Parts: sequence; C-alpha cells; structure tokens
Amino acid sequence: MNLAELGTFLHDCQQCRLASGRTQVVFGTGNPQARIMFVGEAPGYYEDQQGIPFVGAAGKLLTQLLESVGLSRSEVYIANVIKCRPPNNRDPLPDEVETCKPYLLQQIQLIKPKLVCSLGNFATQALLGKKVGITKVRGQVFQLSDFVLFPLLHPAAALHQGNLQGPLREDFQKLKQVLDEMAQAETETPASSPVAPSPLHSQSSIPSPPPAQMDLFES
Ligand code: URA
Repeated sequence: MNLAELGTFLHDCQQCRLASGRTQVVFGTGNPQARIMFVGEAPGYYEDQQGIPFVGAAGKLLTQLLESVGLSRSEVYIANVIKCRPPNNRDPLPDEVETCKPYLLQQIQLIKPKLVCSLGNFATQALLGKKVGITKVRGQVFQLSDFVLFPLLHPAAALHQGNLQGPLREDFQKLKQVLDEMAQAETETPASSPVAPSPLHSQSSIPSPPPAQMDLFES
C-alpha cells in the first residue's frame, strides 16, 4: 500500500468513536517523500473543517516557524497521531491512540523521513513510547531504529502561554542546527549509505530509549 492508498483506506474509517463527531478524517499533508516530518496531536476545529492538519492559529505559527528555518510546508510532511477531531478538542483517550497510532507509524514507514519532529507532549510520548514531559526532552535528539526523533514544544502551547514563545523559537533554531548537521553528514557520506548517526547522537544528553521502545514498527 502506498501513502495515497492508506489515505483512501482511512477516508471513511469507523474504527473508533471519533468517527461519529468528525467532519472528515485529517490524514496528512505535504511531500510524500519528505525527509522531515512533523507530528502533532489531533485535528482541531479548522483542521476538521478543511481536512488539513495545522491550518488554524497553531498551524499559522508552525508555518512561520518552518519558514524561519528555511523550510516550507510543501517540502515537509505534516500529520497528527490522531486523525479525527476529538469532541471540543478534548485530549484523545488511550483506546483512540491505540487504534490510530498504527496508521501514523505506517505513514512514517511509507514516507521514510530521516527526521521526525514531534510537537508537544502527546506526539512525543506516542513516538518515544514513554511517558516523558516535553519540557524535559525538547530540543534533544533521539536515534530510534528507523529515524531520528526531535521533540519540540507544541505551537498551540506557545499561543496559550506567551512565555513559551521564546523557548519554541529556540527549539526551531536547534532544529536548524540538526538539519545542518544532517546535511553536513550527508556530504561526507556516500549517497547510498544511511546518514551517520554519531554527530546527531552526541547532541543528546538523554540516553536512547531502550531497545523495546526503539522498534516502532513491530506488529
Ligand atoms: N494541533 C495539532 O496537534 N494538530 C493540528 O492539526 C492542529 C492543532
């Protein structure tokens, strides 16, 4: 199955209670071969209306932050852990995550990004497989089995708490450093070889997750 086929497959998904309240499934947007992917929590009101992730206020901030580090929305891929809007934007429930997360992992498997940026607590915990606070792990690099995970604060958090705007911008500046290091590593590595993890790895002050948590694609 390719990415478009997965989107079609989920178009009328009825696997959890969120199906009854949504306007539409919000699958994802951007370059299906992106090297960098951004993952948020769940669609909000505007995303549910338009069928595109991050188009409301948090999305506008995300677009600006991407541009501030030389990235455009069309070159990256943007998705959420949960594909349907929870009623009144409540937090997704554990069984909703259980049901929907495999589709995010399938998207990652099909897009094959080198770097996945999780936005906020929810996406970070889902991808790390660990209950860690975003303020502890933001701006650090985690080498997982198939990609590098880089957690950042969620733009919506910075909109609600003005004091997080500076730290969020700092996270994007760190992201730029990570991207520069990846580009540098690629110029030093033959095209057919995977990116050498060492320069990225050495930035992390937190140990890599244990092996059980690193195999994201176990079925
Ligand atoms: N917040 C998210 O986590 N995802 C969106 O798509 C919009 C806001």
